[in-house]
Amino acid sequence: MKLRILPTAQSAARATADHISDKIRTSSIRVLGLATGRSPIAVYRSIADQVAGQELDLRAIESFNLDEYVGLNAADPSSFHAYMQRHLFSHVSFRRSHLLDGDAPDPLAECRRYERDIIAAGGIDLQLLGIGRNGHIGFNEPGSAHDCRTRPVTLSDSTRAANQSDFPAGQAVPEQALTMGIGTILEARAIVLLATGAAKSAALRDALEGPVTTDCPASALQAHPDLTVFADVDAASQLDPALADRQGQWD
Ligand code: F6R
Repeated sequence: MKLRILPTAQSAARATADHISDKIRTSSIRVLGLATGRSPIAVYRSIADQVAGQELDLRAIESFNLDEYVGLNAADPSSFHAYMQRHLFSHVSFRRSHLLDGDAPDPLAECRRYERDIIAAGGIDLQLLGIGRNGHIGFNEPGSAHDCRTRPVTLSDSTRAANQSDFPAGQAVPEQALTMGIGTILEARAIVLLATGAAKSAALRDALEGPVTTDCPASALQAHPDLTVFADVDAASQLDPALADRQGQWD
């Protein structure tokens, strides 16, 4: 595991974008896993700038997103389809982009299809993750088994409350979502996690320093052989100072 602590959310996002683009330029990355939420918005802006400046080319890359709300179709502005279109896909060209269809008539079949598509693409080379305040990754809430696969899940009240601002007044956050499983995420060859803001500090501490437990889904990442964590000082504020001092040196 490698940890880098940056002074601001902006610089942490920039460092995450640079890490992703360096990996794409210098290794044989063909399949990228993508996240939504507030944290990666600045990452995607930076990636789009690099593509516009011809420093980066994504046209050979396939992408897979982590999750989608059940019941929202791609045209719904609060869907993760629409988010990805807004923040990344309207600015850059991928070879192909895959998202779970939250409006699929058979959600279980849709999740099985997604797992098959990931395998058919050769597996995920680099997966970008955010972290929920309760330690969720993707929409794998506390209690999720660490070997779970892509599946329909029920969102916790705290996650729905945290995401309410992404929905127009009067529209409730869906109660269910489809998410890549923790087992699926752990199969990515490399993982990069971005955590910013004080609201993430307890979750980040539990993920990196706590016991590996289903109470903190992100603690499953401790078992991953190629994990890089970018945090701003606020998200890193509850980390053991000794651990924070060794940033970048872990392996
Ligand atoms: C998004 C996702 C979630 C978010 C997490 C943090 O695709 O899977 O795990 O990464 O909820 O969201 P923000 O960045 O909005 O705090």
